[in-house]
Amino acid sequence: MDSVIDFQSKEANDLKAAVLAVLPMLRAVSGGYTCVRFTDSDKPVSADISLNADDISADSVKKAYSELPSERSRFTVFIKGTGYGAVISVSRVSYGDAEDPDHADSFPGDSRDGRVKGKIAIVTGAAQGFGAGIADSLAREGAHVVIADLNGDGAERTAAELREKYGKHAAFSVTANVSDEESVRSMVEKTVIRFGGLDILVNNAGIVRAGSLAEMQKKDFELVTSVNYTAYFLCAKYAVIPMKAAREICPDRMADIIEINSKSGLAGSNKNFAYAGSKFGGIGLTQSFALELAEYGIKVNAVCPGNFLDGPLWSDPEKGLFVQYLRAGKVKGAKTVEDVRKYYESKVPLGRGCRTEDVVRAILYIIEQQYETGQAIPVTGGQEMLN
Ligand SMILES: NC(=O)c1ccc[n+]([C@@H]2O[C@H](COP(=O)([O-])OP(=O)(O)OC[C@H]3O[C@@H](n4cnc5c(N)ncnc54)[C@H](O)[C@@H]3O)[C@@H](O)[C@H]2O)c1
Repeated sequence: MDSVIDFQSKEANDLKAAVLAVLPMLRAVSGGYTCVRFTDSDKPVSADISLNADDISADSVKKAYSELPSERSRFTVFIKGTGYGAVISVSRVSYGDAEDPDHADSFPGDSRDGRVKGKIAIVTGAAQGFGAGIADSLAREGAHVVIADLNGDGAERTAAELREKYGKHAAFSVTANVSDEESVRSMVEKTVIRFGGLDILVNNAGIVRAGSLAEMQKKDFELVTSVNYTAYFLCAKYAVIPMKAAREICPDRMADIIEINSKSGLAGSNKNFAYAGSKFGGIGLTQSFALELAEYGIKVNAVCPGNFLDGPLWSDPEKGLFVQYLRAGKVKGAKTVEDVRKYYESKVPLGRGCRTEDVVRAILYIIEQQYETGQAIPVTGGQEMLN
């Protein structure tokens, strides 16, 4: 993205809002790629067709698109009476391997195929753990993935790995705090400006602060609630904006919001009520969002994994739950980390911890299934069973 505008002025912000509204519509109506370049009066723009920022609607965008002269065309959105404009290149064709300077930010050479080919996804908390694994699988299956995490360096490391494995359009990173409204808004805007829209939100970022009623401090309870519960509301609130815009122009388009919940969202968890309460609440949000968003073709479902025993939350040698539970004597008779692990494995009918690939199977099922919403799908090896 080549931006010459610093977005300090009202005009520049009006232009950005107009571009954010236009991009998901153009991408949906073209079924292809978009890229945007903000410009100003010093850099005159040449384009095939112009659209006034005051007049953005599904009808005006559809009409302008139908008048574009070729499959690869350029479009300006401008603010009347000012020098502010943005050039949007839009293309229905893939460019093969040829770099096209006029479409430098489109997706030349991106030949990935797969079950989510061409879809745009945000995965929150994707610097490590389940989130990093989910992001990897979505990119492997052809998606453009935004790696969003409070840990900006970790997010960039994951994104760089995915670009290395799947090509330069597979991923980019955003530093985001999902419990901060402004940060969430900016995460969604960056996604739309870079990739052109949003099809999948995987609401994965989550934290645990365990403790009994006597131990739990209000600040820890509120932190868990803000990251696991309130943030799900914030991410859904901003994610649906581009999803609805795409649907407005293409009435059969569908999108997905997927919450990574937990088996602790299906049954209470001893001395872990802050976490379990936030996850039970997440299922209430999932069902309620599903009812509200069905008319926009946005499916909302939760995946409820069992314990990810190989992941950093459990296996970190310094602060992982195995070490913590061993030290706290939580598992009677356990003398080693291995004893603690065996105890947790023995609670699972299928005899092992949950893995990222188990969660990914559920996510791909949800995305491919066009006739289900508001569900909480257990992926627990049989440890939790629905009534
Ligand atoms: N690990 C398990 O056993 C397990 C089991 C069931 C469900 N889950 C759920 O899966 C999800 C991922 O868990 P994990 O074990 O991979 O966790 P993890 O601790 O390995 O990774 C969580 C990621 O979220 C990020 N994060 C934390 N707070 C954030 C914030 N405010 N904004 C943005 N990013 C933030 C962290 O930096 C980290 O990269 C969570 O929702 C968790 O509740 C985990």
